[in-house]
Amino acid sequence: MNFSLSSKAITATKADCLVIGLPEKGEWPETTKATDEALGGLIKQLEKAGDLNGKNALVNTIPLVDQPWQRLVVVGVGKDADRTPANFRKALAAMMNTLKDGPSKSVLVSLADTHLQGEDAISSEEARLNLIGRTLEEQLYTFTDFKSEKPTARKLKKVVVQASGSGKALKDALNLGLATGRGMNFTRDLGNTPPNVCHPIWLAEHAQAIAKEYDCIKTEVLDEKQMEKLGMNTILAVGKGSKQPPRLIVMEYRGGKTKDKPYVLVGKGITFDTGGISLKPGEGMDEMKYDMGGSASVFGTMKVLAETKPKINVVAVIAAAENMPDGGATRPGDIIKTLSGQTVEILNTDAEGRLVLCDALTYVKKFDPETVIDLATLTGACIIALGHHASALFSNDDALANDIRQAGERSGDRVWPLPLWDDYQSQLDSNFADMQNIGGRPAGSVTAACFLSRFAKDYRWAHLDIAGTAWNSGKAKGSTGRPVPLLVDYLMSHAG
Ligand code: BES
Ligand code: MN
Ligand code: ZN
Repeated sequence: MNFSLSSKAITATKADCLVIGLPEKGEWPETTKATDEALGGLIKQLEKAGDLNGKNALVNTIPLVDQPWQRLVVVGVGKDADRTPANFRKALAAMMNTLKDGPSKSVLVSLADTHLQGEDAISSEEARLNLIGRTLEEQLYTFTDFKSEKPTARKLKKVVVQASGSGKALKDALNLGLATGRGMNFTRDLGNTPPNVCHPIWLAEHAQAIAKEYDCIKTEVLDEKQMEKLGMNTILAVGKGSKQPPRLIVMEYRGGKTKDKPYVLVGKGITFDTGGISLKPGEGMDEMKYDMGGSASVFGTMKVLAETKPKINVVAVIAAAENMPDGGATRPGDIIKTLSGQTVEILNTDAEGRLVLCDALTYVKKFDPETVIDLATLTGACIIALGHHASALFSNDDALANDIRQAGERSGDRVWPLPLWDDYQSQLDSNFADMQNIGGRPAGSVTAACFLSRFAKDYRWAHLDIAGTAWNSGKAKGSTGRPVPLLVDYLMSHAG
């Protein structure tokens, strides 16, 4: 697909299709007014007659004759007060759904002058171009690697995005959005790949391939022997029940000054979660291939950094293992000494995410991090608490939590806080070890985060439980690419 930015008057740009926004009430965007004028008041007339309305994400196509465009697509953008980034993206997604399979080959999208509700950082033209770029790429995503019949070429070939100028800031904003969309799509590819292909070594090979493709990224992979030497026994304990050995994958992006402390991302990379000896029920178990969704979002984010080269240092650490129940598997009751020295009684082998993460959280101390954010499809309880709209946010630092919340609002990839209070910690008391790996049924997401917090005391840390947001079940089954937009926004807001 060819994407570009234009600041010529829309009437001077020929295209098979022009896309404009129609608010439900309130003032029209400039280009909507200009289009109406060029068409002799057609839009006003159709709205009056009830043939058009501005309900958010409602899309209407109007054939035109003797105009620079063969057709006009009118996208409802809702009421001014409701136009959050998330709702604007719904409208953009609906537009792409209409456009992606033709008949137009070239499209002029004039939606960047649709004002968003919220403060400057959310409502600026840059912010809108970013959202437009991201949604364009996101909506063109397909995953057909494992289908025999290959898809036919798309009819839509060229998208021109209308902007008020052609300066660097506007171009950069569109490009960042496009890169974010591609980063999400890479994340989705990894998440959708079947678990007989996507195993820890396959993930490690992807990290090595990224380092080869981009000079600014360095990769190091620790195998089970190296992890044994270091004492990363909980990752090893999770991997022991599988023929596929675990890996610790490190990717470093150095775009900042040498002395700038790195922002560290830690991803849960369970390439398949059977539950281990505490075997999961069979129904829907196929979906546990996305238990590497945290690591997939880290991969996608690193790719966005490599493509847009912000001035920041970022280190990614992925704890990759397969949780299987064969003869070498860890048993309920086993006690393991973690890399931190603390001992853990494993009472349920299905609570494996926190086990691979705790050693990774101890390991990252060596990078002297500015902040550490871990991403994990950690608990089913998180889906019960927040459903599929918000990722759960836990943090030992209020300023960091605030930063992440704001990044979530700006990107429309939202999070909601849950408590990390000491009151919950005693649910992890063990009779035989320093702690047990489960905290019982009450507040399962909180006790999982409490477990992690014991390994993240030495730096500013946040944990995002993305069990509900990284994956769609049902008809649209597949990886969502979240929380790549959130992570990219957070990191960009800290880049020099
Ligand atoms: N990967 C799962 C969490 C999960 C469940 C993610 C469903 C997405 C959808 C995790 O490893 C797990 O099994 N957690 C257990 C913890 C329990 C044993 C304390 C859970 O949530 O049931
Ligand atoms: Mn599990
Ligand atoms: Zn899991």
